This record gives sequence, C-alpha cells and structure tokens, in this order.
Amino acid sequence: MTIIRKAEISDAPNLAQLQERTFCDTFAADNDPADMALHCQQSYSAALQEQEIRNPQLITLVGVEQRQLQGFAQVRRGPAPSCVDADQPAEILRLYIDKQWHGKGVAQQLMEQSLEQGRLLGAAQIWLGVWERNPRAISFYKKYGFVEVGEHVFMVGSDAQRDVIMTRSL
Ligand SMILES: CC(C)(COP(=O)(O)OP(=O)(O)OC[C@H]1O[C@@H](n2cnc3c(N)ncnc32)[C@H](O)[C@@H]1OP(=O)(O)O)[C@@H](O)C(=O)NCCC(=O)NCCS
Repeated sequence: MTIIRKAEISDAPNLAQLQERTFCDTFAADNDPADMALHCQQSYSAALQEQEIRNPQLITLVGVEQRQLQGFAQVRRGPAPSCVDADQPAEILRLYIDKQWHGKGVAQQLMEQSLEQGRLLGAAQIWLGVWERNPRAISFYKKYGFVEVGEHVFMVGSDAQRDVIMTRSL
C-alpha cells in the first residue's frame, strides 16, 4: 500500500535518482540529448534535492511502498503567470510517478495530497505548467478539473518549450 508523506533529508539521494529517471523516461524520446543532459546536470543531485527538501517554501511529497519511492510531487505558494487570475495561488511544481506505477493510483494519491497542501497553505487556486506534448499528463489534470488558461516558456537545456498553464480552484 502506498503511503504519501513529506520527504525527509535521508530521501535526497533516492529522490534525485527518481527525479532524473522520471524526467528522462518522460522526455528523452522527444528532446535533444544535449539539452536533456544539461537540464539533468542543472537539476538533479543528492545535494540539490536535499536543498529542495530543506526549503521551507517548497513542500516535497513522496509516494512510498515498502521503503521504495514510487513518485513525488512538489507544491509551493507564490507568484504565478498573469493568466492565473488569483492572489498568491499554490503551484504544483512537479508531479512524477515511476513508470511501473503509472495507472495504479499513486498519481491520484499524490494529487489529492498536493491539493490538500495547497489548501493548508491558504491558497484558493492552484496552477501548474505542463508541456504541450505531454497528452497523458494533460488528460490526468483535466480529470482533476484543471482547465487551460494560458502558456509559458519552459527551458529544457537550451530549448525553449511551450508549456500549457492549467488551473483549478481549491
Ligand atoms: C502524468 C501522470 C502523473 C499521470 O499518472 P497516471 O497514473 O499515469 O494517471 P492515469 O493512469 O489516471 O492516466 C491519466 C489519463 O491519461 C490518459 N492516458 C493514458 N495514456 C495516455 C496516452 N498515452 N496518451 C494520452 N492520454 C493517455 C487516460 O485518459 C487516463 O485517464 P483514464 O483514467 O480516463 O483512462 C503519470 O503518467 C506520470 O508520472 N507521467 C510521467 C511524468 C509526467 O508527465 N509528469 C507530469 C509533468 S507536468
């Protein structure tokens, strides 16, 4: 049974591997290897994920079964793109599940807890950005009532990509 809990410092090495693995599984086929390598180098290491876990402005949740990390989500509250019509909304910064756990309910548990964390932060609205070429994630977010309200640019290495901005109330 999957438990959702806040990440602990001791999770940092495994979380770094999970973040890099899930990012590569999701995007390597559609991106330039040099851009992927640059993004991974800038974004994932035990030290970087430890900083994220220690960051009081960022909530990192993990889905765990028998000490194995199955997925993670990160939530924060702060400024948002202008297309998100809300004061200090919450944001789901990342939500990634290891591929063997897709379609098994881990994503749903992490999403429910992410929404709850957004409410606990006092936000009335929650938003996220998702690559326009990620139809499974967009379907998943629509099932949770997120609607498209705009777009922004997300850099993968040197490649500027179009992310769809989606939002819903809490
Ligand atoms: C996005 C993610 C969190 C969704 O979790 P999941 O467990 O796969 O979710 P679900 O199985 O409920 O799938 C979501 C919906 O996608 C749709 N779907 C499944 N496979 C699909 C595909 N290949 N293309 C388009 N839609 C697809 C289905 O409609 C499904 O809804 P259903 O319940 O009505 O069948 C998970 O797939 C994941 O971690 N993906 C890799 C990382 C990622 O893309 N994260 C989001 C970055 S913004």
